[in-house]
Amino acid sequence: LQGLPASVDPEVQESLHVLTHRISRLEGVLTLEGKITEVGGKILTTNGKEVNFESTLKACEHAGGSIATPKNQEENDAILDIVKQFNRYAYLGIRESDVPGEFQYLDGKPLIYNNWYTSEPNGKGGENCVEMYIDGSWNDRKCDQYRLTICEF
Ligand code: IPD
Ligand code: CA
Repeated sequence: LQGLPASVDPEVQESLHVLTHRISRLEGVLTLEGKITEVGGKILTTNGKEVNFESTLKACEHAGGSIATPKNQEENDAILDIVKQFNRYAYLGIRESDVPGEFQYLDGKPLIYNNWYTSEPNGKGGENCVEMYIDGSWNDRKCDQYRLTICEF
């Protein structure tokens, strides 16, 4: 296994090797079956269910992940793949800040990437969540819609 100090016990090294190999095979199975998408360091998946924003957050967190949050075009495209497969809009891990019309990540940090649809965001304080359309562009929208649950891990 790469990156381990030579001082690591050979039996521990062997266990890590077996474990790593097993995980990568399981990833292969899940990818082949279309259950997960890997993008950069992230794993994306959906349970196929449509729920409101708060329930999306809860479902993702309950599973040990968080709501899908595209931070570059590659991640946006990977989420879009799932949106297209299900032909359903999805909420993203982005919310309006205290400043109407300004959006931020759930941890309060400013956006480093966006893909707003033409003339969006237009809610000016009245649409606090963000949904992805079937073309990958974003719309600010009320948080009470039923949208496809997509989580990242
Ligand atoms: C609205 C429109 C609008 C968008 C809003 C939506 P609705 O749909 O799609 O372009 O900016 O966020 O709420 O409410 O008129 O069905
Ligand atoms: Ca809008």
